[in-house]
Amino acid sequence: MNDPNFVRFFDTTLRDGEQSPGATLTSAEKLEIARALARLGADVLEAGFPAASPDDLEGVRRIAVEVGNMVGPSGKPPIICGLARATTSDIDKAWQAVQFAARPRIHTFLATSPIHMKHKLRMDPEEVVDKVREMVSYAKSYCDDVEFSPEDAGRSDHEFLYLVLGEAIKAGATTLNIPDTVGYTTPEEFGSLIAGIMANTPGIENVIVSVHCHDDLGLATANTLAGLAAGARQAEVTVNGIGERAGNTSLEEVVMALQTRRPAYGLETGIDSTQITRVSRMVSNYTGIPVQPNKAIVGANAFAHEAGIHQDGMLKHHMTYEIMRPEMVGLQRSSLVLGKHSGRHALKVRLADLGYDLTDEELKEAFIRFKELADKKKTITDADLTALIADQLYQPREVFILNGLQVACGTMGMPTATVRLTGPDGAEYVQAAVGTGPVDAVYKAIDTVVEVPNVLLEFAVRSVTEGIDAIGEVTVRLEGENGSGMRRTSPQSGLRHTRTFGGHGADTDIIVASAKAYLSALNKLLVATGEYGEPEIVAEVSINGK
Ligand code: KIV
Ligand code: ZN
Repeated sequence: MNDPNFVRFFDTTLRDGEQSPGATLTSAEKLEIARALARLGADVLEAGFPAASPDDLEGVRRIAVEVGNMVGPSGKPPIICGLARATTSDIDKAWQAVQFAARPRIHTFLATSPIHMKHKLRMDPEEVVDKVREMVSYAKSYCDDVEFSPEDAGRSDHEFLYLVLGEAIKAGATTLNIPDTVGYTTPEEFGSLIAGIMANTPGIENVIVSVHCHDDLGLATANTLAGLAAGARQAEVTVNGIGERAGNTSLEEVVMALQTRRPAYGLETGIDSTQITRVSRMVSNYTGIPVQPNKAIVGANAFAHEAGIHQDGMLKHHMTYEIMRPEMVGLQRSSLVLGKHSGRHALKVRLADLGYDLTDEELKEAFIRFKELADKKKTITDADLTALIADQLYQPREVFILNGLQVACGTMGMPTATVRLTGPDGAEYVQAAVGTGPVDAVYKAIDTVVEVPNVLLEFAVRSVTEGIDAIGEVTVRLEGENGSGMRRTSPQSGLRHTRTFGGHGADTDIIVASAKAYLSALNKLLVATGEYGEPEIVAEVSINGK
């Protein structure tokens, strides 16, 4: 892309995003998210950290093969990137994974801040410079497209950074990414860091400068925009801003800031913003990380107007209180209310408006679910439909399937649940259990059948719409108790840690939603043990005909 005002979007949802506590994704889910990101127009997909585990390598390889050769809205396949620490063995693994993409990239990094060099790396600055030179050239021996990041650049000495970056350019780096690894800088500082790099690094005019910010002080988007204003032309982002600790810069915020305030920034992107809502939901459902209701752009309340004075203004002219149209991020305002008497065609049209172009088989299943819901709920809103469809499409492979559930609870007796599950062998299992509450009883009954020791780390319920008959969405996060087959290496610390698994379920009955969420997380854990193979792709839906 030769336009000097074009900003490349480097999406790291599948790498830095997946480092969020609890965000473990199966390789089938990663593939599905990668496809959605390619359709959204992300220029670069950081598909993972291949040295983390053989599973991670395989996940990146699959994305390189399948998405790295898929033509996106720009007319080219996205670049597929693999992260590697500055070691030959990490770089070998990254190349093994990304080489199958039409446009592969290796991204290697080494810390440059005094605190990281002294305490983490235990290396002198001179040794760091040598290692950068050596490892960037090593990556270059495999691949023309090499990105280098001086980790913790936000707390690094500026003169030292100019030197390291200059050496990386000489060794063949084509993109220099400047991370504020610990989310420490202010927008003014980060903007002047980028301006200083642009002005003082030898050879900088021949490479792309990139920004990568963390949100520890809630400044990631502001810092990213300051970096772009100072001359960076690649933004590293994640969907919903997920990532280590407080997360990364959120894709949707930067895209919509550049789009809504185009005259202020004068920058262009190749992102189709109408797909943002759908990708956001997919990431939330697959990772089991809910989006906070007041989250900019993708939160449930981002386009809701509650105060009477605001509603009155909106009715007179939408621009009184709305700086973006909801349609711009893929939220359609429905003029059509669906209910009990709506037919399959009306459902199909509404789903297509929402961006879901289902196969006949998927529509058949969606219609059955829709009718079941319409029996319980008088009017079905877009939010209900989106929850319903997400529950149908975004599920891991079902090792155990929930076939029935009955609960007795209240003030008079002990909460008791009976569950009926179909197992991987096709047999039916019925179990009852008593718990401290109905959800506890259901989970105990499921545990007795599934028999996979685990610790429940998080359980959250939210209502999709208002009203007593609303759909409830439940997300859970758990980890296996023994951790076998579920450990991976963290790129930053090099430590091995246990994976956690998220699950999601939606239903008008929150106990059923809770059971579905738990089972979906347990199914992921079971698949990760390797005993049940890789999950198949649950559904491949095309968006708006693409
Ligand atoms: O935050 C960070 O420093 C990173 C690097 C690997 C780019 O994620
Ligand atoms: Zn990061």
